[in-house]
Amino acid sequence: MSLLIKNGRIITAADDYVADIFIEGEKISLIGKELSIPAGQTIDADGMLVMPGGIDPHVHLDMPFMGTFSSDSYETGTRAALHGGTTMVIDFVLQKQGHSLREALTEWQSRANGNCLGDYSFHMAVTDFNEHTRQEIQTMITHEGITSFKTFMAYKGALMIDDRQMTGLMQEVKKQGGMVTVHATNGDMIDYLVAKHKAEGKLSPLYHYLSQPEVTEAEASARFADMANYTGCPGYIVHLTCEGALNAVRQATRRNQHVFVETCIQYLLLDASRYEQDFDSAKWVMSPPLREKKDQATLWAGINQGLVNVVATDHCPFKWEQKLMGKDDFSKIPNGHPAIEHRMELLYSEGVHKGRITLNKYVEVTSTNPAKIFGMFPRKGTIAVNSDADLILLDPHAQHTITAAGHHMNVDYSAYEGWELQGKIKTVLLRGKVAVNDGECLVEKGYGQFIKRHKVSGKI
Ligand code: URP
Ligand code: ZN
Ligand code: ZN
Repeated sequence: MSLLIKNGRIITAADDYVADIFIEGEKISLIGKELSIPAGQTIDADGMLVMPGGIDPHVHLDMPFMGTFSSDSYETGTRAALHGGTTMVIDFVLQKQGHSLREALTEWQSRANGNCLGDYSFHMAVTDFNEHTRQEIQTMITHEGITSFKTFMAYKGALMIDDRQMTGLMQEVKKQGGMVTVHATNGDMIDYLVAKHKAEGKLSPLYHYLSQPEVTEAEASARFADMANYTGCPGYIVHLTCEGALNAVRQATRRNQHVFVETCIQYLLLDASRYEQDFDSAKWVMSPPLREKKDQATLWAGINQGLVNVVATDHCPFKWEQKLMGKDDFSKIPNGHPAIEHRMELLYSEGVHKGRITLNKYVEVTSTNPAKIFGMFPRKGTIAVNSDADLILLDPHAQHTITAAGHHMNVDYSAYEGWELQGKIKTVLLRGKVAVNDGECLVEKGYGQFIKRHKVSGKI
C-alpha cells in the first residue's frame, strides 16, 4: 500500500517547509517538492501542518492503583490517544514488592498485548530492588527492549523505594545502558503531613494539595539529581511541577549534568485554585498536585530554556464513582486525571497559537525528545526517509471545544470542560495507515505494536 501526502507544511523539531511525503508500507520513502508518483491513496494537505505523531511517555492504562483500576483500558486509552494525535504511548509496569520484574511484565502484557490501537511500550517500575531484581535488569534491556526503570520516592508503604535501593538500582541500570526515571517527591514528609491533616479532621481535597508542598518536590528532585550524578546514571524526572524542583535541575546543569525533565499539560495550564471547590476538586487530585501561577510561568520558560524536555500527560483517569471513594477522606481519592486525548491540541492552542512556544519546540517536546530520550529515534519522533509514517495533519484555522460528551476516554467528566481550542487534528497516520480521519477511527484493536527500545546514553 502506498500513500502520498501533497503540499503539507512539514514541521519537525528543526525544519519548516512545504513538500510532499510518499509512504510505502509503514515507512516514509521519499520527501520532495511536487512529487508525481502513482499512489494507492492521496491526501491533500494544503493549508495543514504536517507533524510527527505525538508520543506520550507517561500514561497509566488499566492500572491497579489505590484500591481500583484506572478507567481507560489499553483499547479505549490508545483509541482516545489516536483521536488526539498521539500515535504512541509509554505505560508503566509496576513490580509488586516481594515479586519479580518478570512476573509484573507478564501480568501487564496480558492486559495490553493485542488490545492496543496505537503503538506502545513499557517503563518498568522497580518497587523492590534486591539481588534478584538486579539480575533481571539486563534481560529487560536487551531482550525486552524496556530500557527505562521508574522509581517512586513517594507513595510510602506501597510503591516507594529508599535511597539505598535507588543507589543500587542506578548503578546497575547505568552498567546495562538504561535510564532511571523518578516520581520525585519526599514520601516521608508527605506521609507525615497527610497523617497530621487527617488527625486534625482536615479531610477535603484541599488537604491533598496542602500535604504536598513545593519543598517536598524540590528536595526530592535535588536528591535524585545528586544520586544520578554520583552514580553517573542517566536520570529523568517525571511530572515536574514547580519552580523549586526545576531550580534543582538548573543547579545540576552547573556541573554539566543533564537530568531530563518532563512536565505535563495540566501543570502548564491549571493551577491550585481548582482545589477551592468542595469535592468537585477531586477531579484534579493528582500527585504532585497542581501548583501556583508562578510555577506555570517557570515551566513555560523552562521549555524555552531547554530545561523542560518533554510535555506528557500522566494520564490516569478515574470515573466519578471511583473519585467518590475519597468523599470523606482526601487520602482515599484515587490520584490522577484524564488528558491523553487533549495534550496535543491543548499544547498547540495554548502554546503555539498563543505565542509561548514555536512550532519546532512543539514537535520537540511532544514527539522528538520522547523518542530520543527513550531510545526510539529516528524510527519515531521525526519526519524523515525510513522513519515510521506516524503523522498528524493539524488544521490551524479550525476551532473546537472540549467536552466530556465529545471525548473518547472512558471517563464521565472532563478536566478541561468548555476549554476552547484553536487548531484541530484532522488526520492521524500510524505506520502508514490512516488511523483517524475527521473524527472517525479507522484502525481496530490489535493494530498497535509493542515497540522495543534501544539502549540510551542520557544525552540528546
Ligand atoms: O496522580 C497521579 N500522578 N497518578 C498516577 C500515578 C503517578 O504518580 O504518576
Ligand atoms: Zn507519579
Ligand atoms: Zn504517573
